[in-house]
Amino acid sequence: MGQGVLTQPFPRVDGRVVCGEVPLEDLADTFGTPLYVYDLAWIRRRVAAFREAFQGADPLLAYSVKANGNLSLLRELESLGCGADITSGGELFRARSAGIDPSDIVFAGVGKSEEEIAYALDEGIYAFNVESRSELARIERVAAGKGMRARFGIRVNPDVAAATPHEFTATGHSETKFGVPWEETRALYRWALERDSLDPIGIDVHIGSQIVDTGPYVRALDRVLGVVTELRQEGIPLEYLDIGGGFGISYGHGPALDLCRLAAEVVPRVMDAGLRLVLEPGRSLVGEAGVFLTRVQYVKDGGPKTFVIVDGGMSELIRPSHYGGYHAIEPAGAIGERGNVTVDVVGPICETGDFLALNRPLPEPREGELLAVRTSGAYGFSMASNYNGRLRPAEVLVDGSDVRVGRRRETYQDLIRGEA
Ligand code: LLP
Repeated sequence: MGQGVLTQPFPRVDGRVVCGEVPLEDLADTFGTPLYVYDLAWIRRRVAAFREAFQGADPLLAYSVKANGNLSLLRELESLGCGADITSGGELFRARSAGIDPSDIVFAGVGKSEEEIAYALDEGIYAFNVESRSELARIERVAAGKGMRARFGIRVNPDVAAATPHEFTATGHSETKFGVPWEETRALYRWALERDSLDPIGIDVHIGSQIVDTGPYVRALDRVLGVVTELRQEGIPLEYLDIGGGFGISYGHGPALDLCRLAAEVVPRVMDAGLRLVLEPGRSLVGEAGVFLTRVQYVKDGGPKTFVIVDGGMSELIRPSHYGGYHAIEPAGAIGERGNVTVDVVGPICETGDFLALNRPLPEPREGELLAVRTSGAYGFSMASNYNGRLRPAEVLVDGSDVRVGRRRETYQDLIRGEA
């Protein structure tokens, strides 16, 4: 199946959408629906794109596990040399279970518990990205109790506004809960220097998610580098600079962030400062590499709207209803000669907000037909829930013609496991 150089994953071959060499319809027949399908070749390609763009800095690619924590997928990323950006003890457990080296793990998040801090110290992670004065004091207490030194960087809130598609995914301005106000960071490093159990080795910033312009990154970076310079003057040299993630991808319309343009701004600055660059890509490594497959149950029309009721909804893919996220949707099989109709693609959940697309032109849908919801590899399964007694779907990984189950579909027994 000669596909040449692909410009997007999941191309249509002989009329049918394929993953690697396998038609999506065949995967749905074998594994049922709803179903998540990931293309490992595309993930490898994305990792290579990051390495090439940022080659001058040889960065640590700390994959942001929250985007998709599937163990098989993490293992693949580990084999590609990636580390991990984690946000909980659970994600640390996932990363370590996948064999990711603790010295390649950074730990962000505003609410780290004592247990999580102790666990991360025991595992020997590279660094905590600290989000508040109180958290740093807690890390100091836990490390001192263990007779250990905790390596950390402060996550700076640079008070930079970045255009993100939804207010919920902006994190870099002063009215979000994230990071330490940039004016206060120096004092915190100074405080840490007087503590035997703390080892300040880095500095961190993450300004939001699905950012497609380089401007906000550069503004945030320059602010952080200003702090780095001041710290150096005070005799506090740092080792790493973590610029977080948030690198935007195209969801089928609109531009993606140009990684090479970003690297051209970031690499010289970080090299000049003599720092190790850390990147925390999530969506940009796995987003395009996933599709969500769902089957049309009913086509309900007659009123002012046509509803295409499918067997997957907000419990499996919450991005459309939670963030107004756009995902391209199309029949996975041959389209043939059909006109388009404008429909709402809705799930089976008892919520008016349960939809995958509103007012969307689609080839006239047919009951029983398989639909592919594109660009669902990030924040799809990882945000799935059992709401309405739904079973979380299976996840399948494809590599050329090789197909592996990364997670089996849940059963009714899974639903009540652990309950009295
Ligand atoms: N680093 C930190 C500290 C983060 O908080 C995040 C994402 C990332 C890295 C990775 O960002 P990415 O490269 O994936 O954009 N559920 C939302 C996105 C929430 C992002 C949360 N933090 C969505 O579906 O759009």
